[in-house]
Amino acid sequence: MKILITGGCGFVGSNISVYLKKNLKNAQISSLDNFSRHGSKINFKRLKKNNIKNFHINIERFSKIKVLPKFDLIIDCCAEPAIEASRKDPDRVFQTNLVGTFNILKKCLKDNANIIFLSSSRVYSIYKLRKLVNNLNLSKPLKIRKPINENFETSEPSSLYGFTKLASEKLIKEMFFNTNLKYIIDRFGVIAGPWQFGKQDQGFVSLWLAKHFFKQNLSYIGFGGNGNQIRDVIHINDVCEIVLMQIKRLNKIYNDTFVIGGGKKNSLSLKELTSKCEKITKNKINFAKISATSIYDIPYFVSNNSKIKKRYNWQPSKNIDAILFDIHKWLINNKRLKKFFR
Ligand SMILES: NC(=O)c1ccc[n+]([C@@H]2O[C@H](COP(=O)([O-])OP(=O)(O)OC[C@H]3O[C@@H](n4cnc5c(N)ncnc54)[C@H](O)[C@@H]3O)[C@@H](O)[C@H]2O)c1
Repeated sequence: MKILITGGCGFVGSNISVYLKKNLKNAQISSLDNFSRHGSKINFKRLKKNNIKNFHINIERFSKIKVLPKFDLIIDCCAEPAIEASRKDPDRVFQTNLVGTFNILKKCLKDNANIIFLSSSRVYSIYKLRKLVNNLNLSKPLKIRKPINENFETSEPSSLYGFTKLASEKLIKEMFFNTNLKYIIDRFGVIAGPWQFGKQDQGFVSLWLAKHFFKQNLSYIGFGGNGNQIRDVIHINDVCEIVLMQIKRLNKIYNDTFVIGGGKKNSLSLKELTSKCEKITKNKINFAKISATSIYDIPYFVSNNSKIKKRYNWQPSKNIDAILFDIHKWLINNKRLKKFFR
């Protein structure tokens, strides 16, 4: 099976590439990435070590994509994933995230290739998620509410990033309509683990641990600056495991959408994350308090894994402590990467 992983030098794409290379016998893995994310060249070295070729191409350019070799499956991990880019660089978000998916789908039709699309929990309505919380100042620890499943509201605004993800999901269904091609859409919550070059607005778990490890300061941003906002977190290895399972069962389970995340047991507030980072690194750092909340920020997200659990008899296996332990171990072995955490 010939597999193309777009965004293959990113955090998720590089980990999936290396994992599939090791665990999917007879598969030929290639990557497409233009190195626009900081740290992606570091991940490219890992691909090279594992004999995985990267096509250095901008996903926005179909003329370059259409002449690539034929593939059987495309795993689309290419995006500008930072929510704040919706405001700072909307053209890039739209072109990379939506036109990019369109180009990949044209390639799927040309090659007769199936697709696994990495969507996001950010497709859901910001307004409706905010309504789950009584007081947006979050001055007190937030109680964990009902986890969010596939049917939560998507029709209202969710940021341009969320829009491009939801529009990509619809585009897949539109372009595969009346073909025998198969798709899987995975709406992931926060993913974390080694080889993630986290920054303030994307990849906060690795950023949190790195800032403690390198003794640099951080800020609690938004919702009163109290650090009480909650997310669930899934280990990148669990993501790789479920993607492998989806590939193996693609003949039986296809054309469906799943919410996948750490779930209720693996959810925590920023403050709780700070305590865990202090414990593991034995370092305490200073926090600035920025009360103002971005129009795109949400106070709470926890994934409801019921559907993925039922369909694949699978659930994530690594808890938040295991995630932090693995990131810590990676940082100890890669202190030279300090400059990549901004
Ligand atoms: N990391 C998470 O917590 C998370 C959660 C839910 C969904 N996702 C989705 O998973 C996918 C991967 O996310 P990630 O965290 O690995 O992000 P990432 O930024 O680490 O990886 C994306 C990769 O795509 C590449 N890229 C960006 N624009 C490109 C372009 N125009 N042409 C070619 N390559 C380009 C970047 O260089 C980077 O290597 C994204 O689709 C994201 O929306 C991520």
